[in-house]
Parts: sequence; structure tokens; C-alpha cells
Amino acid sequence: MFVLGIETSCDETSCSVVKDGKEIISNVVSSSLKFHKQYGGVVPEIASRMQLETISAVCDSALKESGRDLKDIGLVSVTSGPGLLGSLLVGLSFAKSVCQAKNIPLLGVNHVYSHIYANFLHDKKLRLPLVALVVSGGHTSLFFVKDFDKIEILGETLDDACGEAFDKVAKVLKLGYPGGPIIEKLAKKGDPKKIKFSCSGTKRPLDFSFSGIKTAVLYYVKRNSRQSALSYQLTCDIAASFQEAVIDVLIQKSILACKLKKVNRLIVGGGVAANNRLRQKFEEAAEENGISSIFPPKELCLDNAAMVAGLGYRLFKKGLRSDLYLTGSV
Ligand code: KG4
Ligand code: ZN
Repeated sequence: MFVLGIETSCDETSCSVVKDGKEIISNVVSSSLKFHKQYGGVVPEIASRMQLETISAVCDSALKESGRDLKDIGLVSVTSGPGLLGSLLVGLSFAKSVCQAKNIPLLGVNHVYSHIYANFLHDKKLRLPLVALVVSGGHTSLFFVKDFDKIEILGETLDDACGEAFDKVAKVLKLGYPGGPIIEKLAKKGDPKKIKFSCSGTKRPLDFSFSGIKTAVLYYVKRNSRQSALSYQLTCDIAASFQEAVIDVLIQKSILACKLKKVNRLIVGGGVAANNRLRQKFEEAAEENGISSIFPPKELCLDNAAMVAGLGYRLFKKGLRSDLYLTGSV
């Protein structure tokens, strides 16, 4: 069965055709990132206006690239939340119109769960149950995945999301937006042991907190830039020390979750999972603990509609359906 996936939860507009929840036939992603850069973060109004302008063309290209027509589509799977409300409404309205006009079933799926599913598009032999860590610009959560409709939350961030912390630290260092890739690049030239940053503890062991470390970086930068601007080397050291502390806490809690749930499979998804240092350190730590760590390819870490189509297929097969009253949740 061919599923048309539609993703518009943040600044991307993406449409994809996926066969049987596994095979990506096309996956077109259009980002409005360049229009947000000057504001240092995603401006919801700009994002939804761009999505309104591009969604038709993105859908046409995804269908054209797949060599399929709407009459071949057995399901439209669309992100219904969490995300920016205006952006979600563009995808939802478009999906509903297509379903109504062509008499195709509709299903709304959870954006965070679709990041988990990205791993199943890549590793076709991946088995359940497993522990999943989703680290993105809006979410940082640990899940126990028994099945695609049985996802238990084990822990989540109490304040900033992990990607958001990368973005805010990059802003403090005047590096631009999005912060993750720039921090990663500078961290390669820095000393991760130079400054002792650490993430705050949490009452529940599998929760996360990143606002403390972000503030610690802010004060460190203020203290060290009173007389003159930060040197390039110190900027790299701050980036490396911050990145290392964040990665260490993500690893420690993910491995603890695997031990508590007695599983030896750990999957990671979301934009921050594109970070090479994170991937390398996760692999090493997981191996030491007899756990296999799995990451999607980088293009599937970031927001895309293939993961939405894939998850939609699995849930549709379990009998889930949405109606035209489907609405967005932030
Ligand atoms: O999953 P995603 O594309 O969108 C959301 O659902 O939020 O994630 C975007 C986030 C941004 O905060 C960005 O800074 C972060 O992922 N990110 C990274 C890297 N690439 C993107 N963080 C750390 N290292 C990276 N290489
Ligand atoms: Zn996302």
C-alpha cells in the first residue's frame, strides 16, 4: 500500500510516498529556514505562510518523483501535533482536502512518535520492544516502545528541549541559527574538558533539564567577555564543553532506561541525533553496556514526511483512522 505522508509541524513543508511502511519512494522536504535566520529562531507566522505557499508544489513533486498518482494512494498520514498550530493547520487542511476530494482514508499521527519511526524506515529488521530517545528542537523524551500504539513515556525535559539548548547557547555565542550544527562544527576544534559544565539533576532519574546549563554558559560568557570579545579558541572550548555535558547526560539516562526496562535495543531520533559526536559516544557507551544503539540516516533525523507516512501505515494496519474533525495539538 502506498501512503502519502504530510509533515508541517515546524519550519519544514514535506510530503512523501512510502510503500508498506518501509520503502521510501519519494521524500521531498522544503525548508523556510533562511527566512527565520535573521530572527534567531523560527517565527511561527513566517513558517505557516511559507507552508501555505509551498505545500501544493511539494505534494506534486513527491507524487511526481514517486511515479504515482493520488488514485494509487491508500492513506494520507499527516502530522497532527505537537507543533506550531498555524503550521499544523496548513498540513491538516491540505490533507483533509485531498482525502475528501479523492475519497482516501485520513490518519493524524504524533510528530514525536514519527521521529521514533524514522529508525524503522532505515533498519527494516528492527524489533520491538525497545527504548527510544527523541532529541529535537521542541522535545527531549525517553520512551519505552512496546508497539507503535503502545508507547510509554519514561522521562522528558522539565524545561528546555535539547535542541533548543543548542540553539540558545549558539545565540549567546553569537553563532547564528540553528545552533546545533554550528556548535558541533566549532566543538571539533575545542577542548571538551576545558570548562566544567553539567546538566542539572532531576527528581525523577529519567527526566532531563537543560535550562541550568544554558544559563551557566551565559554567565561564563558574560564573565569572560567583559574586557574583550571571546577569542575564537575559547568559543570552540565553550561549544565543546557544553556539547560534551549534554551528550553525557543523554547517554547516561538512555542507558539507565534500557537497564530499567531490561532491553538491549536503543534507538535515537530527532534533529540532535544528526550530531556526529553524539552518535559516536552513544555507540561506544552502548557497546560497553551490551546495548545496540541505532540511528536513522541524518536526513531522516530532521523533520520529514517519510517518517509520518511510515508510522501512519503501521497504525492504519492496527485499525486507527481519523475523521475530518481532526485538529492540531500544540
Ligand atoms: O527534529 P528537528 O528537525 O525539529 C524539531 O522537531 O524540533 O530538530 C531541530 C533541532 C534544532 O534545535 C537544531 O539545532 C538541532 O535539531 N540540530 C542539532 C544538529 N542538527 C540539528 N543539534 C546538535 N547537533 C547537530 N548536528
Ligand atoms: Zn521534529
